[in-house]
Amino acid sequence: PRLPGSHPAAEQQQRPHCASRHMSGEEAPTQQQQVEQQQQQQQPDGDPPAASDAPQEPEEEKPISVRALVLTGYGGYDKVRLQVKTQKKPRLQPGEVLVRVKACGLNFAELLGRQGLYELLPAPPVTMGMEGSGLIEAVAEDVKDRKVGDRVIALSRSGMWQELVVVPANRTFPMPEQMSFPEGAALPINYMTAYMMLFEMANVRPGKSVLVHMAAGGVGIAATQLCQTVRDVTVFGTASASKHETIAQGGVTHPIDYRTKDYVEEIRKISPKGVDIVLDPLGGSDTHKGYSLLKPMGMLVVFGAANCVTGQKKNLLAMAKTWYNQLSLNTLKLMQANKAISGFHLGYVTDEELFARTMRSLIELYRQGKIKPRIDSCFHFEEVTDAMKRMHERQNIGKVILLPEPKKEEEKPEPKAEEGKNVEQNEAAVDGKKEEATEEAEAEKN
Ligand SMILES: NC(=O)c1ccc[n+]([C@@H]2O[C@H](COP(=O)([O-])OP(=O)(O)OC[C@H]3O[C@@H](n4cnc5c(N)ncnc54)[C@H](OP(=O)(O)O)[C@@H]3O)[C@@H](O)[C@H]2O)c1
Repeated sequence: PRLPGSHPAAEQQQRPHCASRHMSGEEAPTQQQQVEQQQQQQQPDGDPPAASDAPQEPEEEKPISVRALVLTGYGGYDKVRLQVKTQKKPRLQPGEVLVRVKACGLNFAELLGRQGLYELLPAPPVTMGMEGSGLIEAVAEDVKDRKVGDRVIALSRSGMWQELVVVPANRTFPMPEQMSFPEGAALPINYMTAYMMLFEMANVRPGKSVLVHMAAGGVGIAATQLCQTVRDVTVFGTASASKHETIAQGGVTHPIDYRTKDYVEEIRKISPKGVDIVLDPLGGSDTHKGYSLLKPMGMLVVFGAANCVTGQKKNLLAMAKTWYNQLSLNTLKLMQANKAISGFHLGYVTDEELFARTMRSLIELYRQGKIKPRIDSCFHFEEVTDAMKRMHERQNIGKVILLPEPKKEEEKPEPKAEEGKNVEQNEAAVDGKKEEATEEAEAEKN
């Protein structure tokens, strides 16, 4: 997948398989996990034929198998496991729809969630995932504005990383015809976050300048594209040097390599007075730097603490450092500086009308060709470790997508002996009953 105008050379560092047909042996991830075969008796298709005098089970009572990525405890990559649940088809409550998920988004929040650092995620065992896209498979009787077969974007607080998901109809949004399922899954969290920060909070206007950190990431690319919908907005974007060509083509006016240079100095060289808006997903000392870079009347929006994360396992030292270096100042100082500070967290936005209005605006911008999610890579559920690794190791340019559909045989490399260990059969999940939390999860909670 390529953004209009993006350069093929810059994409070589990308993992460019988003549809199975894009896969080649070379591009295959190093750590494939084999899906264990479903046991015959669990497969609805493999059910032995019913004896003629046996009572026929109604269609909706028949068990179905559902692939889901379950966080089994807090920790490293191995805590997210592919489980095949055998369950009855979910019954819908009024206002709900059943969605067959085709693609889901991986967000930084799930990296935090896996480490036990995302307060909105229910305790393990839990299926993660906040956004996805797919086809409506059933609607509750009272739902009149969605129908079976509709292609929709779907949102949920958690639980999107599975093949079948029940969501309120008002948390689904019809997809434009030209939008692919990976694009649909990439849109909501990244673009709503960027949109609300830029247009609801910071009120970006023509001629303003914006500092976008993690500019080659999901939110970063969304923010850059949205800035371009406003005339003459200058975007300073921090990212690893290897990503600069791509983000410059995507609209970043001044890409800055934060790894080898002091970005404050670099910005001051170009714009001695600083910037009008800083979007800060990093926290700690970077919040101080962002505040210092603000022009009078400028606004800093704090929306993350990525500095807490240094690898797959929780890093208490990095957390302490980020916490210790938090910006704190008194309101008198703020008044005298003529600066604004705000915080944003999409997870705590409860205004349904704001949600719906923002999604409608974004879908319209997509229709007009003004925004287009950049898909970095797509991974099947059994490759979730590689997907998370890609983000932790700072390799992604744009969105990392998870595909519930099993990986096709021809795409799989030769299995290694130890593989397949994070794939489980899970009959305990029948009727939604939760499994016992792992010891590690319990230990983390205490
Ligand atoms: N408050 C909210 O509502 C909200 C909503 C969505 C996201 N967020 C926040 O926005 C930020 C971006 O989220 P995202 O989902 O779009 O992720 P993302 O930007 O795609 O994250 C991965 C990229 O970020 C950069 N990066 C910087 N620090 C990193 C670190 N400590 N670990 C790994 N990568 C790091 C890397 O790019 P480089 O190679 O260029 O460094 C990496 O490729 C996160 O802080 C997230 O928590 C907040």
